[in-house]
Amino acid sequence: MKRIRGDAALSSFRDALAESVKTGTLAKLVFGGPVDASSPKNVTARLVDVKGGTRLQIVEKSPGRDKTSNVDLADAAAALDANLSRYRHADLFTTAGTWRLEQREKQPWNLVHEPAEVRAAPSRSHDREKQHRIGGVDDTPWLMAFGLVSPDGKPTADGKDKLVQIRRFVEILDHLLTDAPRTAPIRVVDMGCGKGHLAVATAVWLARSGFAGVDVVGVELRPALVDGANALVRKFAIPGVRFVAGTIADAPLEGADVVIALHACDTATDDAFARAVAVNARLIVGSPCCHKQVRPQLQAPPGLVSAMRHGILLDRQAELLTDALRADLLGAAGYAARVFEWVATEHTGRNVMIAAERSDVVDRDKSRADALELATTWHIGQQRLAEALGVTLRTGTPAAS
Ligand SMILES: C[S@@+](CC[C@H](N)C(=O)[O-])C[C@H]1O[C@@H](n2cnc3c(N)ncnc32)[C@H](O)[C@@H]1O
Repeated sequence: MKRIRGDAALSSFRDALAESVKTGTLAKLVFGGPVDASSPKNVTARLVDVKGGTRLQIVEKSPGRDKTSNVDLADAAAALDANLSRYRHADLFTTAGTWRLEQREKQPWNLVHEPAEVRAAPSRSHDREKQHRIGGVDDTPWLMAFGLVSPDGKPTADGKDKLVQIRRFVEILDHLLTDAPRTAPIRVVDMGCGKGHLAVATAVWLARSGFAGVDVVGVELRPALVDGANALVRKFAIPGVRFVAGTIADAPLEGADVVIALHACDTATDDAFARAVAVNARLIVGSPCCHKQVRPQLQAPPGLVSAMRHGILLDRQAELLTDALRADLLGAAGYAARVFEWVATEHTGRNVMIAAERSDVVDRDKSRADALELATTWHIGQQRLAEALGVTLRTGTPAAS
């Protein structure tokens, strides 16, 4: 490991970056820690092969939207240089090693360079985000043990939907953790993990992504599932993942960086989110399951009575409002939350994802006011996440029928 301070750090970083663009050895560059709130949350760059040749693909990531541009290599240095004054740190990953450039407030630049042990060629696929990180031949034994693939690695009839789900979930984590430093250990807790497919897939992917020290904990109510999952990881010697029996409310969560929950039943999703907020996790990602708590409370505001007259519409309205409320409540707790469809309906009807990243710039008061207004409008007096976060919902005047 080599450390450089001051202006020499900055010029060494620029040289390493220019060299990696010139030689095509750039794997990824991440600017993080915006100096002011108007900058995107982070900026990433990588080389991509497109029709006209190789370009530098720059992605500016802000809550709710990403802006992507493909820049000519001749303009790469200029396009990236402006970010050095907009961000507190930059991580450069090349096939030759990693460089972390950092500037704390009023301190000189600091550069840490670590040469790579393994010099793998960086992927230039334009569609890297769509590549499956889980499901190659190395994964066949444990995926087979879960019943998700057959010996030839092909998805089984019963397992194909779950396989698509865990691959896609991991891709989303990959995207959301782009700027998480690989040099630090990472702890992920999977709440209501069931048989443990997602927890194992997450641990395998985190280790492959170069995180130093992976600890994934699956929490599950049913001890038989926990025993089965622990036996599986022992049998296939999969490091960095373990399972504990117990409730989400009592789950060991200290030091969790990321909390995930895939189809945790009804208000178990709220419990998972509330616990994640309580330990100040940097990232919360959950796809909710059934939405029973809010449904019987709903009363349509004027003009929307027919939208609630039929059971199916009431179900969907309850889902929509519960997840909207959850996103606002997470905002009120200091998280920038996004709600999106994460997998096609054919693989699961429960295909809404809430992804919330801890944020200094989220408008907590506005999110709280939005949550209260939504609850009042629809006559929602009780919602588990609101209760857990200490937000008192007040119902409005019942709508005239
Ligand atoms: C629908 S399953 C989903 C399992 C897994 N996440 C998946 O997607 O395959 C929900 C799981 O959450 C567990 N669960 C529900 N409430 C829980 C709680 N309060 N604490 C721990 N586990 C819970 C259930 O036992 C069940 O295994």
